[in-house]
This record gives sequence, C-alpha cells and structure tokens, in this order.
Amino acid sequence: MRLSLKQRYLVLLSVVVCSLILYHRSSFFRERRMSRTDKLQANSSEFVLRGKPFRILGGSIHYFRVPRAYWEDRLLKMKACGINTLTTYVPWNLHEPERGVFNFEDDLDLEAYLKLAENLGLWVILRPGPYICAEWDLGGLPSWLLRDHNMKLRTTYPGFTKAVDSYFDHLIQKVVPHQYSLGGPVIAVQVENEYGSFAKDAQYMAFIKEALVSRGITELLMTSDNTAGLKLGGVEGALETINFQKLNPKDVAYLDAVQPQRPKMVMEFWSGWFDLWGDLHHVFPAEDMAAVVTEILRMEMSINLYMFHGGTNFGFMNGALAVGIPSPKAMITSYDYDAPLSEAGDYTTKYRLLRNIFSQYHTQDLPKMPFLHERQAYQPAVIHQHLSLWDSLQFIDKPFKSESPVNMENLPVNNHNGQSYGYTLYQTLIHSGGTLSSNKHIRDRALVFLDKQFVGVVDNELELTLPEGKEKRTLSLLVENAGRVNYGKTLDDQRKGIVGDIELNKQPLRDFLIYSLEMKPAFVNKLQTSGDWIHMHQKPIFPGFFQTKLHIRTQPKDTFIKLPGWGKGVVFVNGRNLGRHNSVGPQQTLYLPAPWLSRGENQLMVFEEEESDGKIQFSSSADYGMTVDVQ
Ligand code: GLA
Repeated sequence: MRLSLKQRYLVLLSVVVCSLILYHRSSFFRERRMSRTDKLQANSSEFVLRGKPFRILGGSIHYFRVPRAYWEDRLLKMKACGINTLTTYVPWNLHEPERGVFNFEDDLDLEAYLKLAENLGLWVILRPGPYICAEWDLGGLPSWLLRDHNMKLRTTYPGFTKAVDSYFDHLIQKVVPHQYSLGGPVIAVQVENEYGSFAKDAQYMAFIKEALVSRGITELLMTSDNTAGLKLGGVEGALETINFQKLNPKDVAYLDAVQPQRPKMVMEFWSGWFDLWGDLHHVFPAEDMAAVVTEILRMEMSINLYMFHGGTNFGFMNGALAVGIPSPKAMITSYDYDAPLSEAGDYTTKYRLLRNIFSQYHTQDLPKMPFLHERQAYQPAVIHQHLSLWDSLQFIDKPFKSESPVNMENLPVNNHNGQSYGYTLYQTLIHSGGTLSSNKHIRDRALVFLDKQFVGVVDNELELTLPEGKEKRTLSLLVENAGRVNYGKTLDDQRKGIVGDIELNKQPLRDFLIYSLEMKPAFVNKLQTSGDWIHMHQKPIFPGFFQTKLHIRTQPKDTFIKLPGWGKGVVFVNGRNLGRHNSVGPQQTLYLPAPWLSRGENQLMVFEEEESDGKIQFSSSADYGMTVDVQ
C-alpha cells in the first residue's frame, strides 16, 4: 500500500502529537513520583508539613473492620468532620493467614485504602505493628507463630524476627510508594504499638525501627504509649506520643521533659471504649469527650481519635482482655466503641460536637455531611432446616488421631499452619463416669457430651461430674476459641483448644480424634448445599446449624440481625461469617451491611450451641445492651 503525500503528512503529525502526549504524561508521573522534600517535620514545638505549621487532627478507621464498599462513605464522613489525617493499623494475621501466603486483596487491599484516602484529601499515619493490640485476636499476630513452643512474641527471638522480616518484605514494599516523599498520603509511620507496657526485650524496638527503615520507610517515625508504658516505649529517632482518655498533666509534662521543643501528640485519644461478653456496654459521655478534645487542642497538641469509627469484629477476629479481671473475657462482635461515627456509619452527638470544634481549625467551610444510608428491618426469616453438629462432621477434613490432646495451632491442618480460629472437637472413649478435670488446659470453654448427649460445660477452672453409664461411651468436648488476648504479658500463652492433659478421676485421657471446625467459607458452602438438612418439623439437636433464606425484592439496605430466642453461636450470611452472637450480651444485634446482601435470595445460617426459637429477626437500629459510663 502506498500512502499519498497528504496521508504521510497526517501519519507523521499523529506520531508527533502522540509522542508529545506520552512525554507530558510520563513527566507528569515522574513529577508525581519525584521526591517531595517538605515532608512532615517534628523539629520544633509544632509539626511542619509542606513548609507550614501543621496540626494533626486525626481519626482511626480500620479498613479491616469496614466492608470495602463502605470505605469511601466512612472516609467522606471523616473528612466532613474536619479531620485531616486518617490513622489505621495493619492486621498481620489477616494479611498472612498461613506462613508465606499473603492476602492484600478485596477487603484487605491496603493500597486501595491508602489511594482512596489520598484521593479524598486525607493524610495517613500508618500503624503497621507488627503487633497492633486493637482488641483484635492476639493483637494482630498470626496464631501460627504459636506452633513454636518456645515462641517469644514481640522480642528479638529469631523465630519471631524471621517471621516479621518475611512479612515486612511483603507489606512495606506496598507502603513505600504511598509515602509523602514519593507523592503519596503517608506522612508518618508508627513503630510497633505501646511497647513500653510490654518491654520484654530492650533490643526489640530498634529491630522494628530498622525493619521499617531498611525497607524504604523515610517518613517521620512515631511511637505510641499509654501512661503505664510511656517511660519504656520510645526508640531513638522516633517521636514519642501518648494515649489516654482523661488528660493527665503528668504525661504531658513527661513528654515536655523528654522531648522539649518538639510537637506533642495524643496518638490515641479514646473517644469511647470496647465491650466484653457478659459485661455492660461502655459509653463515654459526648460532652466529656468534647471537653477533653477542646483542652488537648487548646494546649496546642495534635490529636488522633481512637476510634473515629470503630466498625465490627467480623468473623472470629475479636480479641480478649486478661488484665485487671480474674479470668480472660472475650471482646464482643461489635466494635462500635461509642465512637463519633457509629458501627453502621451514623452521625452521633460526638460527631456533631467534634465537627463544631474542628471547624475552628479550618480556614474554609467543612465539606457537607454525606447522606446516611437507608436502613431496613426485614420481616423475620423463619428457619426451615437444621443439621446437627454431628451430621456436619462429614463436611470437614478427616479427624486427626493423637494419643494426647493437641492444641489447635499445632493441628496438622492448613498446610502445616494449624487451626487459627473457631471450634475444635476432641473425642475419646471412656469406660466410667467420675470427675472430669480440665487441669487448666481447656481454652476457652468446652461443651461436654457423652454419646452425643450434652452433660455440661467445662472451662479452664470448672470441673464436671460425668454420670456412670454403660461400658464404653464417647466423650466429646467441643472447645471454643473465644478470642485470644490482645494486650498484656500473656501473649505467648494464647494457644487454644486443649493445650495439655485433661483428666478423668485424676487419670489423663488418651487416644483422641480431633476435628477442626473453623467454619471457613468452603465448609459453609459445602454444608449449605448438602442434601442432609432436616426439616424443622423434626426437633433439632444442639449444637447444630440452622438455615433459611431472606428474600429481598428491592435494593438491599443495611440492617441488624437480632436473635432474642437463641443462645450462643455464630451467624453466616451468604457464606460470610458475620461474627458471634451471645444472649449474655451486652450486644443484642449484629450489624449486617447492605453490600453483603443481594437483591433476591440470601442464605442465612446460624451455628447455635444451645437453643433456638426458629426465627431470625431484623432491626433498623443497633442494640448494644445496658450501658455503663467508662469512668
Ligand atoms: C491501646 C491500644 C489500642 C487499643 C486501645 C484500647 O491504646 O494501643 O490498640 O487496644 O488501647 O481500645
């Protein structure tokens, strides 16, 4: 084909135009990625960003506690409250569920979250741990670390540092390009979390700092400590910040003394508090909160609200508390936290008070408050089928045979990573009745059955009398991991399941069959589609699974699940684990976000240990139970 002169001219012209466009675009990106030199500085009594004094007005939202479809909504509401900096932890246990297997996709797409913050004009302070506390199982550390019986978490024990190195190799390379200096929103990075109140290894903080810096973290480093740990938590080269709910002049004076002429920041101003099962719902009065915020700002300090929006401990990810109470108690499923933006994204009195306070620190009007999502109390869904725990066992992997009990982390499942969460069933044959003693080896609580008949509950403390009976009976212990402790010095002791010998009449029991009941999506799907379900005409057996469908004709809306006629268990919606329910409260409703529902048929399934009235109810508002003032 021969081109005419005019055609040749046109081709040449388009080549020139395209090259010019490409050149401009690439130089735009070069510029975007070119290093910015005016990053966050902490060399005088105020922070300086972009060459100007800068007050951090921060708020925490953990992406892993909010469905991805709502990230933008929550961050827009944050922006509209006058907050200029988003802070978030990074949960190692979700990002590396098995050693060497990493997940940064979908709801765990940290880079997408950082990008979103950037697009909405929020700066970011990243708190990558590796330990994060946060009322999160084992403070965010993966349970497979505990397979090593000599493990010393949060120390320079080589088994721990090797795992951190490998995780940080993956994590930090994702963070580096989002740093301010390279054109991104990350203006500061926190080194570990409240190490001062743990402080088991004087070399550890330097190791974590180096692990960040050697992988390319160049922004301002910070540490964050509560009053108990303030004196031991710092590391050279990082700005110390403090955590509290009530302003303690002594802590502020301490910061002034150790860091004269440097900016002061409250990294965690606790806007509310967390709740435990079997306890009350904590509230921190809005006016008291506003008074402390006003005072912090008046003192020219920077602030981060922990939490600005708490979200939810979906699945089995809640932590537990062991400090200051006789025996550990698990965190509830909601992480509403009595925060300024509620679990379901509603504005609260705290939000309005804060917006008013923060507006005084902006020269322009704050953005409009986004509209709220609609809520719906769907008609109750009547359960139509059930399947006993015993009949569900065919859908999980073959049981493991072991002479002695094995804790869940050391079970040969999940490619040698053990079982992390959920329930484990231990079975053995017994030849008499008598006293069953846990020997303090049951974590956290076991429902006990003889030939599938419920006989009682044992936990770390309780003993149980087993009735006499026929020659040979199957003793089954369904042990629930209710959540690993997330704070305090007992992190290394958080193995779950049966962690040592248990005894019948002072004789250790032997020859166990052990089933891992993690209730992961593959199991839930297999179960739901099985032909073994039994109609509700036939009396259900507990513990068991219960299922029904929710038909939604219009666009799905946010809702809350309510189970007043049920005891204790776990709720699944369209195969997704929403979290635990427990009639002991305080929490009475489980948040079910609209993006996890679809128009048409939705599969609802409940694992229930005790009882059921055969109905799943819905509510348009949350009920967190009887309240108590945090003070
Ligand atoms: C500490 C931790 C946080 C969180 C709060 C309490 O400050 O750093 O992760 O556990 O306590 O909510």
